Amino acid sequence: MGKCPACGEWSTFVEELVRKDSGSSPVERYSFSEMRNRPLPLSEIKAEEEQRINTRDEELNRVLGGGLVPASVVLIGGEPGIGKSTLVLQTILKLKGVRSLYVSGEESVRQLKLRADRLSIENEDCLLLCETNLDEIFKHVKEVSPQLLIIDSIQTVYTEGLESSPGTITQVRESASSLLKFAKQSGTPVILVGHITKDGSIAGPKILEHIVDAVLQFEGDQHYMYRILRGIKNRFGSTAEIGIYEMSQSGLREVSNPSELLLTQNHDGLSGVAIAAAIEGIRPFLIETQSLVSTSAYGTPQRSTTGFDARRLNMLLAVLEKRAGFKLIQKDVFLNIAGGLKVNDPGMDLAVISAVLSSSLDITIDSGTALCGEVGLSGEIRPVNRIEQRIQEADKLGFNRLLVPVNNLKGYNKKLSIDIVEVKKVSDAFRLLFSE
Ligand code: TYD
Ligand code: MG
Repeated sequence: MGKCPACGEWSTFVEELVRKDSGSSPVERYSFSEMRNRPLPLSEIKAEEEQRINTRDEELNRVLGGGLVPASVVLIGGEPGIGKSTLVLQTILKLKGVRSLYVSGEESVRQLKLRADRLSIENEDCLLLCETNLDEIFKHVKEVSPQLLIIDSIQTVYTEGLESSPGTITQVRESASSLLKFAKQSGTPVILVGHITKDGSIAGPKILEHIVDAVLQFEGDQHYMYRILRGIKNRFGSTAEIGIYEMSQSGLREVSNPSELLLTQNHDGLSGVAIAAAIEGIRPFLIETQSLVSTSAYGTPQRSTTGFDARRLNMLLAVLEKRAGFKLIQKDVFLNIAGGLKVNDPGMDLAVISAVLSSSLDITIDSGTALCGEVGLSGEIRPVNRIEQRIQEADKLGFNRLLVPVNNLKGYNKKLSIDIVEVKKVSDAFRLLFSE
C-alpha cells in the first residue's frame, strides 16, 4: 500500500515478514532422543535379535510375531464394541513390571476403572489418562516416560495446529505420524486403536495402514463369543497368524485349542461334511468344511463360498468333472468353512472336494476321518507343508484315520494311534471314503 489510509502519509508502510508458524508437529516440541542418523554400510549394522516385549498373551504374541518390537507402532482395528479396549487394557494390566500409559479419548477414568474391575487384575505400573489433545499427551509422556503407550482411539486425538476436527483424515494422519515419530525416536512401542467403517476398512485414511508397522484386525460376530485377531500387515512377523479369544464375563480369554470350536460336536450321518487338517500360519487346526450340492433351478448354476477362494473351488470342481467323472455342470454348489474363518491353506483342497462329492452323492464321510492334501490339475494329491503337525493335531483330537498325500511323510514314523492312509489321486481318496 502506498498511502496510509489512517494518517494520509505516503510510503510510511514498512514490510514485516510474518513467519508462518511452521506448524511443527507436537512431537517436535519435545526431544525424545539425541539420536543421530547417518548412512551406514550393511556390514556396520548390528542385527542382534531385537528384545521384544513379551505381552504375556499367547495369542497376541503369536499375531505380533513373538511379542512387541521396541519402537514399533501397532494399529488394532475393529468394529465398535468388539472388544478392542478390553484387549489392550487387559494386556497392559497383565504386563506387570512394564510402565505403560493408556490414553483414552473415549471413556472417562471412572469408566476405565469399572472395566478394570471387571477384568479384576491389579497393576500399579499401568497409568491411565483421559486426554485427546496430542500436545498434552506428549507432555505427560515426557513426564512419566512410559515403556508402552496406548492411544484409544486414534480417531479421538487431535493436533492443535490443524483446523479440522478430530477424526478427519488430516487429523488422523497428522496425529499418527507424530506418534510414529515419537515411537522411532524414543524406542517406545505405541499401540493405536482404530475404528472400522461399515465396509470393514479402517476408518480414516488408508494411509494409516502404510505408516504403522503392524495392522491387526479384531473381528468376530457380535452374536458369537469368539473373536479373531488377525494380522493384516506386519513388518516383524508373518501375517498368516491368527489369535483366537473368547469374550467372557471377566474379559477376553485366550483360546489355545481352536480345533475344538471349529468342529461340530456331532455330525454323524450328515452328508457334505468333511474335516480338513489345515494349517493357518504355523498353527494346525481341524476345520469342518461343509458343502451343499443341489440341482440348479436356473440356467446358470451358482457357486458360492464362505471362507474359501471361489476360483479355487471352481478349479476343484473342474478336476472333479474331468478326473473323477462327476457331472456338476447343472448343479449349484455351496461351500462353507465353519467358524467364520477364512482359510488359505492349499491343504484344504482334498477336504473341500470330498465334501462336495459327499453332498452330491449323499453319502456321509465317516466322522472319525480327517483329510489333508493339495489337489493338482490332473487329480493328483500333492504334498503339503507341516504334515507332522497336522497328524499330531488330528491324533490329539481323537480322529482314527487321516488321509495324507503319498510320499509326504518322508520317514515320519512316530507311533500314534491314528491310522495314516497315503493317497495318490482323488479317485483313491474317493474309493476309501465312499465305497464302504
Ligand atoms: P470394548 O472393549 O469396549 O469394545 P471396543 O473398544 O472395541 O469398542 O468391549 C465391548 C464389549 O465387550 C461390551 O459390549 C461389553 C463386553 N465385555 C464383556 O463381555 N466382558 C468384559 O469383561 C468386558 C470388559 C467387556
Ligand atoms: Mg473402545
